Amino acid sequence: MSDKNLRIHLRARPVGNPNESDFECREAPIPQAGEGQFLIQNLYISLDAGFRQWMNEGSGDEYMPAMEIGAPVTGLILGKVLESKNSDYTAGELVMGRTAWESYSLADGTDYITKMVADPSVPLSAYLGLLGATGLTAYFGLVDIGKPQPGDTVLVSTAAGAVGNVACQMAKILGCRVVGTTSSDEKCRWLVDELGIDAAINYKAPGGVAAGLDEHCPDGVDVYFDNVAGDTLDQTLARLKQGARVILSGALAAYDRVEPPPGPRNMFKVITARALLQGFMVTDQVERYPEGIAQLSAWLREGKIKNVEQMIHGVENTGDAFCQMFRGGNRGKLVIEA
Ligand SMILES: NC(=O)c1ccc[n+]([C@@H]2O[C@H](COP(=O)([O-])OP(=O)(O)OC[C@H]3O[C@@H](n4cnc5c(N)ncnc54)[C@H](OP(=O)(O)O)[C@@H]3O)[C@@H](O)[C@H]2O)c1
Repeated sequence: MSDKNLRIHLRARPVGNPNESDFECREAPIPQAGEGQFLIQNLYISLDAGFRQWMNEGSGDEYMPAMEIGAPVTGLILGKVLESKNSDYTAGELVMGRTAWESYSLADGTDYITKMVADPSVPLSAYLGLLGATGLTAYFGLVDIGKPQPGDTVLVSTAAGAVGNVACQMAKILGCRVVGTTSSDEKCRWLVDELGIDAAINYKAPGGVAAGLDEHCPDGVDVYFDNVAGDTLDQTLARLKQGARVILSGALAAYDRVEPPPGPRNMFKVITARALLQGFMVTDQVERYPEGIAQLSAWLREGKIKNVEQMIHGVENTGDAFCQMFRGGNRGKLVIEA
């Protein structure tokens, strides 16, 4: 246990993909809990690609305010209460929620921190990945909007990523033919050989995602789990089957844009295919998290689904790891062991 609080501050707003120089690690004394507060020792920090969006100027919305230059970077953590002057929280309890990329956080119970109960037979970090908001995004997106039927062709973008790999594995469990997109031949091989999906498309290969879709989805797409928007969404819309469902989960291709990119062009196909396009935020389903965690845990216990996780040690490496994510460096969930 460190005697210092390591914190990652936002030094500059990223332009395009985030760069190591956009972040700075500073040391501060461990904060003291005041009346009504409790001190959390952060055990794990979750790296979430979507948080890139709130590093942009003026990007604040109902979910969270834009991050400020010079302030600690906002992030999701899983930690243990070390000391409490709040009667609702006791030292030793596990908590998770939104604080910052730091070794220790102060909270007072009015913030985005909740208590958690962990199954000791599951690695604790899985509650940030497969059994956390990440896995639950895949779960609720697929179950509520995608409604995959056995035999459906399900396309997943950023298939090798944290949300993507869970969506792929779930669609396989549900009896679908699964095609994923990613950025290299090596990751395509990993998706087919290790994750067990049916085909993978390298969207950076000649011909781009369009050529890959023609090859691997010649009859079209029933369900598209969209984490990127941009060209991949547009090309997929052109290939939707009748009654297709498009889960709008994320827009990674647009997070580095100050101005939104041009919208999709293939909208007429959405009409003639009688397709559904629906966005969602996993946080809308907080009341139903136990349902999702129970199902994903059951599949984990039965060996039907894997918790694919990449662990990096040290808070000081959080900024660099986040940048690597935008270079496609991760397989599954990136977690920092604080
Ligand atoms: N709606 C919700 O409630 C909700 C909740 C959580 C997450 N999400 C969304 O889920 C998506 C995935 O997030 P994650 O945390 O699981 O990240 P992730 O997929 O583990 O990591 C990001 C991946 O995105 C790809 N990528 C990076 N820059 C890109 C770009 N400019 N264009 C296209 N792809 C790019 C890279 O994969 P490749 O190498 O394969 O390109 C990278 O590995 C995000 O869009 C996020 O906003 C939505």
